[in-house]
Amino acid sequence: MTRSQNDLSKRDQAVCWHPYTQHGLEEDILPIVHASGSWLELADGSRMLDAISSWWTCLHGHGHPQLVEALTQQARSLDHVLFAGCTHPGAVDLAEQLTQVAPEGLTRVFYSDNGSTAVEVALKAAIQYWIRRGESRRTRFLSLEGAYHGDTFGAMAAGDPDPFFIDFSPFLFRVERTPPDPQVIEEILKRQPGQFAAVILEPLVQGAAGMQMYPPSILSQIRKLCDQHDTLLIADEVMTGFGRTGTLFACEQASITPDLLCLAKGLTGGILPLAATLVRESIYEAFLSTDRSRAFFHGHSFTANPIGCAVALASLKLLKEEATPDRLDQIGRQIESGLKDLRGQPGIRDLRRCGGIVALELQDPSGEEGYLSELGPRLRRACLDGEVLLRPLGNVLYAIPPSSTTPDECDRIAHALRTVSQTALS
Ligand SMILES: Cc1ncc(COP(=O)(O)O)c(C=O)c1O
Repeated sequence: MTRSQNDLSKRDQAVCWHPYTQHGLEEDILPIVHASGSWLELADGSRMLDAISSWWTCLHGHGHPQLVEALTQQARSLDHVLFAGCTHPGAVDLAEQLTQVAPEGLTRVFYSDNGSTAVEVALKAAIQYWIRRGESRRTRFLSLEGAYHGDTFGAMAAGDPDPFFIDFSPFLFRVERTPPDPQVIEEILKRQPGQFAAVILEPLVQGAAGMQMYPPSILSQIRKLCDQHDTLLIADEVMTGFGRTGTLFACEQASITPDLLCLAKGLTGGILPLAATLVRESIYEAFLSTDRSRAFFHGHSFTANPIGCAVALASLKLLKEEATPDRLDQIGRQIESGLKDLRGQPGIRDLRRCGGIVALELQDPSGEEGYLSELGPRLRRACLDGEVLLRPLGNVLYAIPPSSTTPDECDRIAHALRTVSQTALS
């Protein structure tokens, strides 16, 4: 019996519809019944190392006692309250701490509940900021080729439609797309002066594009261009935030402050849905008025959920106490060093790393590349039977493990990446 023939998987097949899953191909659905540290436990009692941090969320390891304690304590005292017209200690403490640790100059926190909504907030705030300032011609956005910013409509528009959102293209606002090349960006901004509301990007690592990486110097040049052309810069650190790139935020490596910063995933250590969009005071002030119609009309039922805020505070404490960004960097380093000899081998296009993110890009024999590469399903199948949970992005195998990952577990991850790539290429 395979893992996915379990009773839970069968019941799942009858009633569930999974994200980013083609059920017509009968993809194996793994029944997970328990998680602890870096390990997931399956219904048949076997275990898998969570090398992808459960969609890049799990930061300190599963079931971390300090996070679980914060969650239970907060649930007992204040479970939830609306955040319009009310506040609570956790939201204020967290906003104070986030504005302290974020790149200098980001002074206001707008809460929402996931990465896509953090991006929606940033896009809407950017559009209305210019309207409030009497520059309503600034309606255009510039984003990077291969960008992924989430699945809601604004986030889809900001992302690259290929391959996920092609069918929605007629419904999405037009966005200018460019490689992360300052020269090209400058030409675009020059060609359409006074028209861009913002440049939006994933700093240093473009996750869903296949962990594509570009250096901090590019990021700082883009910041300069935004300043020169009076355009806002939105940094989507939904994936890169909270130590993934080896620093608390990827923007730190370029010594820049974006005008808007989107955070989610690791904000709560990855155990509850909570998001935050941090902005400069000037953006907040553009909405400040005695005219009610000039308010920022955006909010979600669970905006600033107190339990999420309490867990995020506990996670921030751990990040400091345990120097999590350094730990993640060390983990990435060890996995990369276990794979170094693959560089230049037939079938291996690239081995790259940024902090705790390691990507092994394979050459697809059919020539098809990207998320829908032919190699993808072969890699997926090869991943399923091992003891390490990997979820390739097309022809790119990658690891982004939690900080609980031990040196022995790093070796196992490197071994799994090697074995899976060899199996799929053979
Ligand atoms: C860079 C980036 N932005 C936004 C999102 C969307 O986040 P969520 O899935 O929480 O809506 C993701 C998700 O992977 C992401 O990687």
